[in-house]
Amino acid sequence: MKIAIGGDHSSIELKKEIIKYLEELGHEVKDFGTYTSESVDYPIYGKKVADEVASGRYEGGVLICGTGIGISLAANKVKGIRAAVCSEPYSAKLSKQHNNSNIIAFGARVVGVDLAKMIVKEWLDAEYEGGRHARRVGLITKIENGEEI
Ligand code: RB5
Repeated sequence: MKIAIGGDHSSIELKKEIIKYLEELGHEVKDFGTYTSESVDYPIYGKKVADEVASGRYEGGVLICGTGIGISLAANKVKGIRAAVCSEPYSAKLSKQHNNSNIIAFGARVVGVDLAKMIVKEWLDAEYEGGRHARRVGLITKIENGEEI
């Protein structure tokens, strides 16, 4: 799978570990920054990865900031993006199965390396179930498009 990854200054060490892990699993990963621990603004990297996923150039995205919150909020402003912030694997799995999340986000100040790997693995292994969930995800899209629900 082609995966876009990004994060702010707080993500640097964890991002390296996650890239290595994803590559070991056989995925093609591109790092959209930031690349140093100099303080940066997380919305920039949230948008970069979200644009890549929304365009279809990448099949999924991984975003990391201190908490995972700011960067996912930014990514979710891009049309077609459903970024889920998860601090444990169960929510990560359900975010794909039920919400068809196309970006997984987490906080470098919240989760450790091993937990982050588990979150990413569960998310990657899960499949969107559609069915009754499709109606609900469709309603989210309607909100995004400014339609009445
Ligand atoms: C940066 O200090 C921090 O605010 C950011 O990484 C993130 O946690 C925001 O949601």
